[in-house]
Amino acid sequence: MAGKTVRIGFVGTGGIAGAHLRRLAEIPEAEIAALCDIDEARVKQAAAPFGAAVYTDAKKMIGEAKLDALYVCVPPFAHGDVEILAADKGIHLFVEKPVNLYLDQAKKAWQHIKKAGILTQVGYTLRYLPGPMRLKAFLTGKEVGAAHIFRWGGLPGTPWWRVYDKSGGQLVEMTTHQVDLLRWAMGEVEAVAASYSFKRLHRDDASTTVPDSQAVLLRFKSGAAATVSTGCAAGKAGQGGMYFMLKDAKAVLDGDTLTVSPEGVYEVPPAPAEQPSIDAAFVRAVASNQPKLLRSDFRDALITAAVTLAANRAAEEGRVIHVAELVGEEIYREGQ
Ligand SMILES: NC(=O)c1ccc[n+]([C@@H]2O[C@H](COP(=O)([O-])OP(=O)(O)OC[C@H]3O[C@@H](n4cnc5c(N)ncnc54)[C@H](O)[C@@H]3O)[C@@H](O)[C@H]2O)c1
Repeated sequence: MAGKTVRIGFVGTGGIAGAHLRRLAEIPEAEIAALCDIDEARVKQAAAPFGAAVYTDAKKMIGEAKLDALYVCVPPFAHGDVEILAADKGIHLFVEKPVNLYLDQAKKAWQHIKKAGILTQVGYTLRYLPGPMRLKAFLTGKEVGAAHIFRWGGLPGTPWWRVYDKSGGQLVEMTTHQVDLLRWAMGEVEAVAASYSFKRLHRDDASTTVPDSQAVLLRFKSGAAATVSTGCAAGKAGQGGMYFMLKDAKAVLDGDTLTVSPEGVYEVPPAPAEQPSIDAAFVRAVASNQPKLLRSDFRDALITAAVTLAANRAAEEGRVIHVAELVGEEIYREGQ
């Protein structure tokens, strides 16, 4: 990769930041300049291999560290004005999904990002993987009748994840990846209905307030419908899958394997050539000022977050929620 050095900072140096840092360490144009976490011991440990500056106050880091790009890797409830402070200084942003638990903050951040004209990438890694890319290529231009998605897993170790008011639950926090892939491959979601169950399978676990299981119905602008079933009570017996019904055929995405049956009804695109990692794409886009290398900008990811938060509200209020009702018509229509 040829281009200038990109000076990178991080806010949040927990689990996912570690994965990004390991990949960035292999990219010659990436310079890990400064790291920030409210946990001082953790940030010192993360910074040591890079000789990066250490901060516990993100505002101070953004003011001082002369960054080209900032990774925001905090939990969903902990996003605040960091994205705005960075955008106002012209610092390009890599924000982990979901962009925010609070849509008003995300909408405000988007206005600053747009005004600043910075590049943004949100951590929807599936968009960089061969199976999902092949699925998108296959479904583009085809009429999908219905999709069925399920993702059943357990509870991750991070304590905030189990608290509904902090993570938003499994759909908002994890199955957001599959919802985002549906939007990418099938077009925009218009309306959402949902039914959740709480404290049945987790009734003896006082620390867990996220729903045990979430059943969600998505209606797309195309007229297609998708059902999404997600649950976090299956422990290590977790499983997932993505199924699509087309005229006279079905497509199944299982991990990175796309199967279309019966054979011969549709032409199936070949597996794509080797792809850059999401981090390599981001660094390259910033170094060479090429937004087209990025597949999930902040506005796009804001809509994915809104679809999942619409499900939470639909389950709470027992009614259908229109996505535009949550994000506002202007942002909803911007990308179309
Ligand atoms: N794209 C992916 O595949 C993927 C995978 C895992 C996690 N994630 C996302 O990354 C985010 C973080 O997840 P994680 O597993 O790394 O969590 P984590 O708990 O391991 O790390 C979060 C870190 O943020 C720090 N933090 C919290 N508030 C802060 C603040 N105001 N300023 C500075 N630091 C702060 C915490 O101290 C902690 O070190 C979540 O939104 C999660 O969904 C994405």
